[in-house]
Amino acid sequence: MRAIVVYESLWGNTEQVARAIADGLEAIAPVELVSADAAPTQLEAYDLVVVGGPTHAFSMSRPSTRETAVQTQNAPRVVERGIREWLDDVTAVFHPITAVTFDTKVESPRLPGSAAKAARHDLRARGFDVSISSETFRVHGYEGPLVDGELARAEQWGRTLASTVVAH
Ligand SMILES: Cc1cc2nc3c(=O)[nH]c(=O)nc-3n(C[C@H](O)[C@H](O)[C@H](O)COP(=O)(O)O)c2cc1C
Repeated sequence: MRAIVVYESLWGNTEQVARAIADGLEAIAPVELVSADAAPTQLEAYDLVVVGGPTHAFSMSRPSTRETAVQTQNAPRVVERGIREWLDDVTAVFHPITAVTFDTKVESPRLPGSAAKAARHDLRARGFDVSISSETFRVHGYEGPLVDGELARAEQWGRTLASTVVAH
């Protein structure tokens, strides 16, 4: 089995989650961990594609929300190409490769909407098998840190994902 984890992250919280998921997957299968600005758009070579990003304004980030993050929330990095723009370029697949999505969201207040749900919707439209449920990991405030225990949960989630796909 070949797996890839594609992520976007402004403050690094989603990146940490992505790394923990990749560690969990790695226990069972080789995995590539790549940020959305460097990720391949042809995914036929993979058996499992995991995609995650921060929830911005109830969905995946946009150039405008990322700009807001830098201008008003002191986000440390400019992300030129997030998972939304990457997904726009992902080539449709003709056999249903498993794709699973995750996001990060603030712990409080609990807001509706989810980058993971939006990404899952996009991947379904491109022919991916999105039958495995998405997952959300929680951060304190916009900049984090992650809520205690989230990295361990992410690693365990990655491990479970890998064994589910291998068993298919
Ligand atoms: C412009 C903007 C909009 C946001 N909108 C939401 C939201 O709708 N719901 C939510 O739970 N968190 C929201 N957040 C918080 C982000 O989810 C949080 O910054 C992110 O999880 C941190 O991950 P990162 O370090 O990988 O960027 C927003 C953050 C920014 C900067």
